[in-house]
Order: sequence, then C-alpha cells, then structure tokens
Amino acid sequence: MYSKRFDWNAARHPLGEMMAERMSRGEAILDLTDANPTRAGLEYAADTIRSALAGPETMIYAPAPRGLAVAREAVSAYYRELGETVSPDDLLLTAGTSEAYGVLFKLLADPGDEILIPRPGYPLLSHLAGFEGLACHSYPLRYADETGWSVDLEVLSAMVTRRTRAVVVVNPNNPTGNYIKAHELAAIDKLCRAHGMALIVDEVFADFPAAAFPPPSATVVNRTSALTFVLNGFSKLLGLPQMKLGWMVVGGDPGEAAEALAHLETLMDFYLTVGTPVQLGAPPMLAGRRDIQRQIKARIAGNENWLEQRVAGMSNMHRLIREGGWYTVLAIDDAIGDDERALAMLTADGTLIHPGMFYDFYREGFVVLSLLPPAERFADGVSRLIRRFGQRLP
Ligand SMILES: Cc1ncc(COP(=O)(O)O)c(C=O)c1O
Repeated sequence: MYSKRFDWNAARHPLGEMMAERMSRGEAILDLTDANPTRAGLEYAADTIRSALAGPETMIYAPAPRGLAVAREAVSAYYRELGETVSPDDLLLTAGTSEAYGVLFKLLADPGDEILIPRPGYPLLSHLAGFEGLACHSYPLRYADETGWSVDLEVLSAMVTRRTRAVVVVNPNNPTGNYIKAHELAAIDKLCRAHGMALIVDEVFADFPAAAFPPPSATVVNRTSALTFVLNGFSKLLGLPQMKLGWMVVGGDPGEAAEALAHLETLMDFYLTVGTPVQLGAPPMLAGRRDIQRQIKARIAGNENWLEQRVAGMSNMHRLIREGGWYTVLAIDDAIGDDERALAMLTADGTLIHPGMFYDFYREGFVVLSLLPPAERFADGVSRLIRRFGQRLP
C-alpha cells in the first residue's frame, strides 16, 4: 500500500518502545536528551513576540514564493551584523530548516543520486534524503584528544561518484559541536567545484559557540565559490522552533546562484509554506535575539561546567571537546554496550540518554546529552548516570 520511503519506520529502537510504555503508564521521565528550548525554563520576551505576530497586515494574504521582502530584509540585516553582505534577493524563506533540506534535495538531485553527510551527525538528514529517493553516504569526522573533531578530507574526496550531487556540512555539527575550519571549507568548496556538486551548510547552531572556542568565522556565507546554500532559522537562533521560519542564502558562483534561485522560486510557488504572521514579525524578533541567546549560552555553559567538574573525578568518563552547539558527548569506558546502558538508565533510573549510535558514532562508548535542561534537572539526571556507570578515581 505504501511507498518504500516508510520501510525504515518498521524497526523501532527498543528505547523508543520503552519510552512509549513508560509514558502510557504515566511514569515521569527525566529527559537528558531534551533540546526543546520552549520547555527549558527560559524567559522569552513573550509580549513583544506576540505583538510582533499580531499586526493588522497579518490579515492580508500576499503570496511571495521567496518570502515577504520585509522578512528577507530582516535576515539580510542579521548577516550585516555578522559583517556579511547578503542581498535580500539572494535568500529564500522556508518553513524551517528541515523543509529547506527537502527543497534543496528536490532541486539538486534525481532519485538514486547521492548526498554526502557528516558522521557522526544529525540523524534526520538521511531520512530527509531518503524521502526524496536519494542515497545518503556518510563521510567521517575524526576525533583526536588534543585537537577535537575534524573532517577526514581524504575519505570525503574518495567518496565522490558520478551520482554525488551535494555535500552537507553542519557548522557546528550536531552532536559533535565542531565548526568547519577554514582549510576544511576551502577543500570541500574546491571538491564541490571540481565535481559540479553543491555545498549545503547548516548553521542552525552557529550563534552558539562555546566560550573557549571562538569559531573561525561567524558564518560561511560569502566564503565559497561552489554553488552554496547556507541554512539557518528561528528554531535555534531564537529558540523558537514553533514559529517554523527558516531560510537559505544562495551563494557561490553568481550565475549558478541566480539559476538556483529562479528554480527554487518556482518550486516554492507550489507550496507557499511560510506563514504570513511570522514573516511580518521577523524584524523585531530577529533584532531581539540577544536576550534569549544570552540565556541559552548561560544555561549551556553552566551545565557544561558542572558536568566537567563531576566527570573530572571519574576514571572512566570524559567529555569530548565541544566547540559549540547545544549538545555534549560523554565518552564512557566500560564493558557495557551503549544501547544496554541507555535501556538500563531508563528502566532503573527513569532517565533518558541517547546512545552514541543514534548519531552514527563509529564505536560503542558514547552518550549524547542535551545541555539545555534546567540546571537541577540536568544535575539530577547526570548524577544518576554517574552513580550507575561512573568509576571514581582512586
Ligand atoms: C543540525 C540541525 N539542522 C536542522 C534542524 C531542524 O531545524 P528546524 O526546526 O528549523 O527544521 C535541527 C533540529 O534539531 C538540527 O539539529
């Protein structure tokens, strides 16, 4: 009855099953994977946001496939504040970043074509590509204790085939938190140019560097010459995923960019997904981003520092270097499998953690934690994890 796109749905992870069971019994779950900013106890400028969404013009429907000019100008102003010139005519609005991926995959690739994505990485990407009939292959990120994560450029270039249509870079990557370095970007840009591939750079976490790791640049916008799409949106930038406003900046080769924009405009005209109120409200919302970003950064830093101190007393746990983003990766050295550990935490401690395998880590021994939960909840859950699996230094 249904298309093959849904085949992956059949195999549900036991952790998901167990979560569903617990929830159906009404049992509380201490969720250390929760990265929903709207349930993290942050103080939003709710009145300002509500009034930005409620102007009289919200009652007028004026379809604009690229997005309303007023919203595109606000996005252009955001890049201006980062020191980059982006014309409102060089960007296009979408109903969130996930939709942008779907739109780009339709634009760039035919069913059976290939997309390269980072590993470890954000699990949604392979599903989004799969829904467009594309094959997703993962290029490796390597970790070194001194320097953190880096792209294995050699393997990445060897993975390109005649059918590879795009390379996806997540900057900083989810969940590893590494920003793309200037030499990596230059090499990937060159590779894309050489093989007629597009470069898709997801910067949803770019405004959240860890204090100790200033990123190589605030954005990769205007730094590439292959056809490039830089994605971002309100979901992380303003901690407002429910607003469903994202965008893509189209850059690189000017001729190719103009052609891509024209095709995208045609495509978006069939959907017109982006709501009018959020577009009209975009200028004051984007201009007011610093307050919520300050709170998110403080939360992340507080939880990270607390975790670091606790883990410092353990012989079998350490945090991997995190340059930015909302997640941290904890390495745990014991004989227990990651799935088994996560299932034990849920059954015995009512605490949800993500095994590294959810993000396609190469081997066992990693737990991914959101740094966004309120401090007490985070400390409580992590204490349970350490009590169960930590081994104290002698
Ligand atoms: C790396 C990355 N890209 C995109 C998204 C989706 O963003 P949006 O809510 O704008 O669709 C997420 C959500 O967690 C993400 O982690």
